[in-house]
Amino acid sequence: MTKLWGGRFQKTAEQWVDEFGASISFDQKLVLEDLQGSMAHVTMLSSCKILPQQDADLILSGLQTLQKKAENGELEYSVSNEDIHLNLEKLLIDEIGPVGGKLHTGRSRNDQVATDMHLYLKNRVTEIIELIEAFQSAIVEQAETHVETVVPGYTHLQRAQPISFGHHLMTYFWMLQRDKERMQESLKRIEVSPLGAGAMSGTSFPIDRELSAELLGFSGVYQNSLDAVSDRDFILEFLSNSSMLMMHLSRFAEEIILWSSEEFRFIELDDTFSTGSSIMPQKKNPDMAELVRGKTGRVYGNLFGLLTTLKGLPLAYNKDMQEDKEGMFDTVHTLMGSLPIFEGMIRTMNVNTASMEKAVNSDFSNATELADYLAAKGMPFREAHDVTGKLVFTCIQRGYYLKDLPLEDLQAASTLIEDDIYETLLPQTAVKRRNSLGGTGFDQVHHQLGLAKKLIG
Ligand code: ARG
Repeated sequence: MTKLWGGRFQKTAEQWVDEFGASISFDQKLVLEDLQGSMAHVTMLSSCKILPQQDADLILSGLQTLQKKAENGELEYSVSNEDIHLNLEKLLIDEIGPVGGKLHTGRSRNDQVATDMHLYLKNRVTEIIELIEAFQSAIVEQAETHVETVVPGYTHLQRAQPISFGHHLMTYFWMLQRDKERMQESLKRIEVSPLGAGAMSGTSFPIDRELSAELLGFSGVYQNSLDAVSDRDFILEFLSNSSMLMMHLSRFAEEIILWSSEEFRFIELDDTFSTGSSIMPQKKNPDMAELVRGKTGRVYGNLFGLLTTLKGLPLAYNKDMQEDKEGMFDTVHTLMGSLPIFEGMIRTMNVNTASMEKAVNSDFSNATELADYLAAKGMPFREAHDVTGKLVFTCIQRGYYLKDLPLEDLQAASTLIEDDIYETLLPQTAVKRRNSLGGTGFDQVHHQLGLAKKLIG
């Protein structure tokens, strides 16, 4: 088949060479964006009197026909037409005749493909922001139910201090809030139109780039034609923001997996988000959380892949840049799968408050309370730390916890200790009293929830 660009060629490549160079197998995902870009372009060409109205109308109606066919999955692409842009141009010419060839006036595939990618990400990022927010609302819901559920908080994965489980969950809300803000902020750089930059240097036709940008819902245009066609920062930024988001999901996944283990038993995932084993009848596996944790690697890989592809590329467009798409599509797909999975998993998980209560009453996570108690009574904190540490050591040797120490033993360690220490050592008291701004105190968690709810509207 002769190529749309075949004029200066004497020979045609063999099919397998065409196949190697083609991107149609994956860039057909851009079909609607490509048609949208073409419609804006032709509307602009006619408004600037570069194309007669009649030709533009014909082209527009041809593009609309292709759009309907695309929506119904009726378009047939061919590898010999290389990519979605040439395929659509060929289909347009088949549809309306040689006048279809006028569409490419004052445009190149280089600004065309960049425009498609901007449009694609503009739409997907907006959808991803909504998915993040839906997930945030699931977290708020669980956190609200468990403001007063006390669990051990960890550092170094060692019991540290008792905290509100709602407080713990809300940590992920704030991570996601930053992820959402980063996505929102990136739209500023996504919603910029490269259209009209041509192959690299602009065009001699009296085009109106601002008009086509406006028709496409972009808020501005690239100010340098070389930059317009060679910039892929907006994709890198998306991949980087996505990597951070996946890293957050992966940390959450890890906790879900730990909490579901027999060793913790803090939560039980709903059956609908768990799987069984083909051999071990007792198993209930947190597969979905594990998968999200696993997929994080792919998303990082996509970021590093594109960073490496772009490294050292001379200006302006290079065919290397065709490699920008699969990782981006894969990342969008991964995010759009992972976020609703997590949302559902968190919304439906069962929180085992009895296990949590048992855990928090059988550890030394209240040791800081004792040290603080002494410090509040005037003992230098460093000394209070030492006195408490020695009492902890005594308990470990005797096989019990601070709350089990008789008052005489406590008073032998420090005469500052009185009977009210036992109330102080209760995990509930410990949490309630941590009422510093942003602390785990119940009042603070309620305050935090109030702020969070405003952020998800
Ligand atoms: N399929 C190409 C890509 O995805 C489109 C741009 C091709 N431009 C070119 N001059 N070969 O990057």
